[in-house]
Amino acid sequence: MTVTVRSYLGAEDETSLGDDVLDGLTRPFKELPPKYFYDEAGAALFDRICELPEYYPTRVERAILAERAGELAALTGAAEVVELGSGTAAKSRLLLSSLADAGTLRRYVSVDVTEGMIRSTGASLAEEYPGLEVHGIVGDFERHLGHLPAPAGTRIVALLGGTIGNFTPGSRRRFLRGIGQLLGPDGVLLLGVDLVKDPARIEAAYDDAAGVTAAFNRNVLRVVNRELGADFEPDGFDHVAFFDREHEWIEMRLRAQRRMTVTVAGLGLTVEFAKREELRTEISAKFTPERLAADFAAARLETVELMTDSDALFGLAVARQSAPRRFRPARRRALAAV
Ligand SMILES: C[S@@+](CC[C@H](N)C(=O)[O-])C[C@H]1O[C@@H](n2cnc3c(N)ncnc32)[C@H](O)[C@@H]1O
Repeated sequence: MTVTVRSYLGAEDETSLGDDVLDGLTRPFKELPPKYFYDEAGAALFDRICELPEYYPTRVERAILAERAGELAALTGAAEVVELGSGTAAKSRLLLSSLADAGTLRRYVSVDVTEGMIRSTGASLAEEYPGLEVHGIVGDFERHLGHLPAPAGTRIVALLGGTIGNFTPGSRRRFLRGIGQLLGPDGVLLLGVDLVKDPARIEAAYDDAAGVTAAFNRNVLRVVNRELGADFEPDGFDHVAFFDREHEWIEMRLRAQRRMTVTVAGLGLTVEFAKREELRTEISAKFTPERLAADFAAARLETVELMTDSDALFGLAVARQSAPRRFRPARRRALAAV
């Protein structure tokens, strides 16, 4: 069994956490990027979220994959799955099994910021799929995709779980454009997107009755406390989740219960929170087919198919690089006629 794990998170990433926290906490409207939720404790909390009755995205995405993975294997004949933000790869196993059954699967490449997850999932997959080459990258998919190994054949790049929704619109298109360059002429992107629907249903998914999402949200403060010597009191913040109808995205925030002074020793920073002041910790954009098509077009991608469930709760988009644009033939003809 071949499992290779390479880590690209190091001193430079402590700097990046420091920069993001400094930048985010000194803005008039405070904000922290969602990737810092996922230390080992945060990753375990996210796994629990996926099992919650209110959290439909995982269940529905899994059902779509269970139904359509065979077709995806036949459509692509892929030798390789590159999964970004792979987590426990619970759903991608459905795809791997179909490709293994079709006899085309050679390699699985995972990219995630959580090292323990990359290592344990990689070891399990190598056992479950004899002969599979597993290459784990502990890194940030916004900065380390240059470290992917050269393609082992036709590629599927998978970004599941609605993770694309965490990007703001401009950075989302830039990120998708970068992914397009990883696909090669025959490869496809498999993109899990949560769809626009009744806001109450979406809000319940991000504010569960058992309080697991609230604990996940507060975990980002524990990460900043541990990594940067801050003294946030996580329990002094309330979990807030609401659907922003104008932007069609969910926002998670942490609201200070009272006035607070927080020190971030590692940055030599002192931050004041007014009573009820909010810190944004995540956006999660919801998609319509039109929004998705526009994002793909801006990223030089085109939709092959948007697979959804019968209630249109969640979508699994298959996209490929769009054909390169030709040099304006109409104008050439006009010039020739002059
Ligand atoms: C919403 S979870 C989805 C997990 C899994 N793909 C699924 O569908 O259940 C997001 C995953 O992306 C990872 N992640 C978030 N930001 C990342 C980043 N910038 N670079 C690499 N991994 C990231 C997290 O550690 C987590 O495993």
